[in-house]
Amino acid sequence: MLLCTGNYKLAMKVFEKIVDLQNELFLVRKEGKSVGLVPTMGALHEGHASLIRRSVKENDVTVVSVFLNPTQFNDKGDLERYPRNLKADCKLVEGCGAQYVFAPSVQEMYPEPDTRQFEFPPQSTVMEGAKRPGHFNGVCQVVSRLFYIVRPNRAYFGEKDWQQIAVVKRLVDYIGMGKTLKIVECPIVREDDGLAMSSRNSLLTKEERAIAPNIYRVLKESVEYAKSHTVEETHDKVVADINAVDGLEVEYFEIVDGNTLLDVKSWDDSDYVVGCITVYCGKTPIRLIDHIKYKA
Ligand code: PAF
Repeated sequence: MLLCTGNYKLAMKVFEKIVDLQNELFLVRKEGKSVGLVPTMGALHEGHASLIRRSVKENDVTVVSVFLNPTQFNDKGDLERYPRNLKADCKLVEGCGAQYVFAPSVQEMYPEPDTRQFEFPPQSTVMEGAKRPGHFNGVCQVVSRLFYIVRPNRAYFGEKDWQQIAVVKRLVDYIGMGKTLKIVECPIVREDDGLAMSSRNSLLTKEERAIAPNIYRVLKESVEYAKSHTVEETHDKVVADINAVDGLEVEYFEIVDGNTLLDVKSWDDSDYVVGCITVYCGKTPIRLIDHIKYKA
């Protein structure tokens, strides 16, 4: 066990080793207690806190994993830039009332390279799957490992990574945990100005942070516009309005069926229609993702 906050004494437990966490959870389960898991890559913010609080409310114990998973980064620079702060993460987790942090090393999680291949088309191959080859394979590798290690009753994922939830749901069925593990989808948490909370926001400069809320502003405005315009017109307006902001550049915007994640051509094609966007912000640039529901 590791106490990670210097002179601040943690009441919760922090585990680095799989065996230690499993021994602890064995005792928890022996008492008939339920286990909630909140998988994270650290750099925790209020969005994560909302997942943790929900798990604490719905389970007897909550495990928060803090692991920056290298296998889901197709861009090395993105991995190197990713913010890390385990001390602050532990404080936030404890403040939310969770009992355990699981913070393994890369060696502990992957004693050997993970050669498993997961593909769940179309959910894993469109949008983020197409733009970030290997990304969802890496997510499935680490999430399946976490599920095997923790054996949670419920696992909590934020709707900000909306496509990820669709992929993880396919994964859970694929690995035979569909009947014992519930995937709990939690609403996106936004800053006061509408920017979706993300660990990557801390990498934005002051100027970039000031323009980033335009993404959600345009998405929100497009809901009204969509009522009297076609899917194609709505798509084109969102792309044009965001690209018109100096410093923002749309990578993709797709209006899709919320279940299959395949493009819709007309609003009548589905009862569940979502617009998913990825935007490059600033010079570095920082890649921001968001989405809006047109029909739910
Ligand atoms: O959403 C994330 O932060 C990551 O993709 C996850 C689910 C923790 C897996 O590394």
